[in-house]
Amino acid sequence: MKAVVTTKAGDPSVLKLKELEVPKAKKGWVLIKVRTFGLNRSEIFTRQGHSPNVVFPRVQGIECVGEVEEDPSGVLAKGQKVAAIMGGMGRAFDGGYAAYCLVPQKIIFPFESSLPWDVLGAIPEMFQTVSGSLNEALELKKGESLLIRGGTSSIGMLACQLAKSMGVVVLSTTRNPNKKEALIQNGADYVVLDGGLVGDQVRKIYPNGVHKVLELIGTVTLKDSLQCIGKKGVVCMTGILGNEWDMKNFTPMEDIPSLGRLTVYGGDAENLTNADLQNFIDLVESGSIKLKIDTVFKLDQLPEAHRYMENNRAKGKLVVAI
Ligand SMILES: NC(=O)c1ccc[n+]([C@@H]2O[C@H](COP(=O)([O-])OP(=O)(O)OC[C@H]3O[C@@H](n4cnc5c(N)ncnc54)[C@H](OP(=O)(O)O)[C@@H]3O)[C@@H](O)[C@H]2O)c1
Repeated sequence: MKAVVTTKAGDPSVLKLKELEVPKAKKGWVLIKVRTFGLNRSEIFTRQGHSPNVVFPRVQGIECVGEVEEDPSGVLAKGQKVAAIMGGMGRAFDGGYAAYCLVPQKIIFPFESSLPWDVLGAIPEMFQTVSGSLNEALELKKGESLLIRGGTSSIGMLACQLAKSMGVVVLSTTRNPNKKEALIQNGADYVVLDGGLVGDQVRKIYPNGVHKVLELIGTVTLKDSLQCIGKKGVVCMTGILGNEWDMKNFTPMEDIPSLGRLTVYGGDAENLTNADLQNFIDLVESGSIKLKIDTVFKLDQLPEAHRYMENNRAKGKLVVAI
């Protein structure tokens, strides 16, 4: 089979198209014929050698969609449409950057849909992240206000649509005034221009602060995001678009407002159910949720696709088709 192997830690040129043996199905694992997969920023870090315990060579890819080729347990029929995400995929064992992928049963989600594979490929990890952040970490409720820091990201755009569908007031940030209209079109009630500090702008709209913040830029804006919440407000850090893992000079007793709450969402398959994923796919199919896909690359274009993602050129989800 064709697969893209990360031969060693490095720049996108370490991603090499190779011929590999199709993995052999084994008990507790399911062999998937991969159709498409979404690209994720964490795959850049893995490729660069920053993911603990990843040993190269490795077939990366933390998610994929496709059809069951073989399930030795007999639970899933050949041809059943499935998604697979996380659980060590593309890190501890070979992942989705391949024509076939062998994954544990517990990270597989069967679904039915007539959506094109290019669209389906954009869904699993993006939906799992947004749903887990809003529902599990932030426990977002109807009538609350939500500040999305990094609003133009794929995760931010979907978070806005889901929050709006829950009856939440959304404030969305971008550094770029030209993207303001896109955020409004996507459903944001307010757009906040982010020059690094947004606390004053947010307090002009909500003098007592917002209920919840979805922090996608990360450590570089986290202290300021904490200053945007009202009493018992919650900030959830889900992304690190600012590219800084460690936080400098963090003083919890000063930086977290009294009674304020800070949490993170790391993301895992266990936060997703078959019914949640199916329900979301149905919303996309009915047109209630609009996904923005920037480009669909081919498997042999993976080095180019990684470069494109790393250079922040995407204005939507990047998908790769086998
Ligand atoms: N925790 C999890 O389970 C999980 C899962 C998936 C993804 N994530 C994380 O979620 C974040 C969003 O991912 P994504 O794929 O949706 O991103 P994306 O679509 O690639 O985000 C692109 C946007 O990020 C903003 N941006 C880029 N660099 C920035 C910087 N240095 N400072 C501020 N803004 C910057 C830009 O917005 P403007 O130009 O408009 O300002 C750009 O439009 C990433 O950090 C990703 O790793 C987390």
